[in-house]
Amino acid sequence: MDTLIPPEENRRMFDLVARRYDLLNTLLSLGLARRWRRKAVEILAPQNDQRYLDAGCGTGDVALELLRQAPGAAVVGLDPALAMLDLAAAKAARSDLSDRAVFQPGDITALDFPDCSFAGVITAFCFRNVADRRKALAEINRVLTPGGRLVILELTVPSGRFLRCGHRVYSRLVPLLGCAFSRGSAYRYLVDSIQNFPRPPEIVALLDQAGFRQPRHVPLTGGVVTVFVAET
Ligand SMILES: C[S@@+](CC[C@H](N)C(=O)[O-])C[C@H]1O[C@@H](n2cnc3c(N)ncnc32)[C@H](O)[C@@H]1O
Repeated sequence: MDTLIPPEENRRMFDLVARRYDLLNTLLSLGLARRWRRKAVEILAPQNDQRYLDAGCGTGDVALELLRQAPGAAVVGLDPALAMLDLAAAKAARSDLSDRAVFQPGDITALDFPDCSFAGVITAFCFRNVADRRKALAEINRVLTPGGRLVILELTVPSGRFLRCGHRVYSRLVPLLGCAFSRGSAYRYLVDSIQNFPRPPEIVALLDQAGFRQPRHVPLTGGVVTVFVAET
């Protein structure tokens, strides 16, 4: 069953959960989300004096981590959910990073940037929600400079039997926690969207078909999340 929901509904859902997003994210990932984002940014390997795109930036944690690792870089955070963007901008202001981090509305499948605008593109926990993934990859390919890197961090189903079992049990608890702290239906959707996300080799094949070089994947925490990496 395809669980993908139309972009407008998707935007509304993230606007609704925005205020509780960071809390739930930390709780549901048992505090690991921060480490996963840090690792994904390390794999992106941002350089000072270069410009990066964080597509589906949400409340801005990846963009701000990028600036922690490369304080001389610049980052554009893009997201259709305005409530998420407001929180991201407030975080950047609190960290005195507003001059290097710009947050703006936009869609990963229709990037409003000229060709070759970014040295790297990163997207964390967003790609799963995108209905037209081929279009998104074509757009990312277009805005990357030659030799630029794409990093996709995504929740996946672990391949080992033991972890997969634990994952299944945990998945039953997620909507209950979601109900207690935020919008339950959004967290039901979260579980379904992870189950229905293509397995890592399929995403690697998609990257290859989209013209990226050396697509590969790196499982983290036994494959509970996966980092996909490729170059233009
Ligand atoms: C689960 S959140 C992840 C946010 C953030 N990257 C993080 O690490 O916490 C997914 C985000 O992707 C955004 N999103 C969904 N569809 C999108 C699209 N087509 N283009 C860009 N962003 C999208 C949502 O609005 C939401 O803020």
